[in-house]
Amino acid sequence: MQIHSSIPDLRATLKTCDRIVFVPTMGNLHEGHISLMTQARQHGDTVVASLFVNRLQFGPNEDFDKYPRTFEADCEQLQGAGVNVLFAPTEQDLYPEAQQYQVDPPDIQNQLEGEFRPGHFRGVATVVLKLFNIVQPQVAIFGKKDYQQLMVLRNMTRQLALPIEIVGGETVRAEDGLALSSRNGYLTPAERAEAPRLYRVLCDIRDAIRDGDRDFVKLEQAAVVQLDTHGWRTDYVAVRQQSDLQLPLAGKQSLVVLAASRLGIPRLIDNIEI
Ligand code: PAF
Repeated sequence: MQIHSSIPDLRATLKTCDRIVFVPTMGNLHEGHISLMTQARQHGDTVVASLFVNRLQFGPNEDFDKYPRTFEADCEQLQGAGVNVLFAPTEQDLYPEAQQYQVDPPDIQNQLEGEFRPGHFRGVATVVLKLFNIVQPQVAIFGKKDYQQLMVLRNMTRQLALPIEIVGGETVRAEDGLALSSRNGYLTPAERAEAPRLYRVLCDIRDAIRDGDRDFVKLEQAAVVQLDTHGWRTDYVAVRQQSDLQLPLAGKQSLVVLAASRLGIPRLIDNIEI
């Protein structure tokens, strides 16, 4: 695996590479990331991963400084997963001057995650567009665990006519159902034992909807009560349309249930498609 931090060096390497599949990450890799790398190998010839903790997408009171940085272990895992090239820029490489030109996604950036993390999707869209311009992949893969992020990036790519196919990778779960996430590492043992409840409440909503329950507000509220009586502080549990993450209209559509809740220090997010 070749490792580059400088943009010109990376570009020189990629010039001779065929069909590039790109998997951007912020590092601290786990099985969820590795499954995206494995999936990437099926979509092209050269798998490029990036590793960059993007300051722009963190709010002032979020965990940018504490975000786990595990470069050596990450490199080993990427090598084992058959990644060909790793782009691991420093902040100076990627943002040598203040990033004043930014991508401002439409109103969806203020809903769900965006309501609780103002500016987050602007930071994500900006860094991903910049990474796309640097790597120039034919395909890019993002995990479905960050469902809203996947939708924002898919829409950005389509509306800006970027010649890139966006692929969603399935969420990888621990045996007890907890979605793998770098932030799970912040959980105490007692919180880790409690954490699968988030997935269970999503499954309960899915099952109720499959059984014909259409009172989404009641289902959402019951889930919040269940979580919060077990020590969570829930930001939202929301039933939305898969296509645009808007409130479901009457009739049959594909739905997704999304949730974000804090358990101790970490804020966990998860979702389930119906
Ligand atoms: O999902 C992530 O890890 C990040 O949001 C991404 C897409 C790498 C952009 O920094």
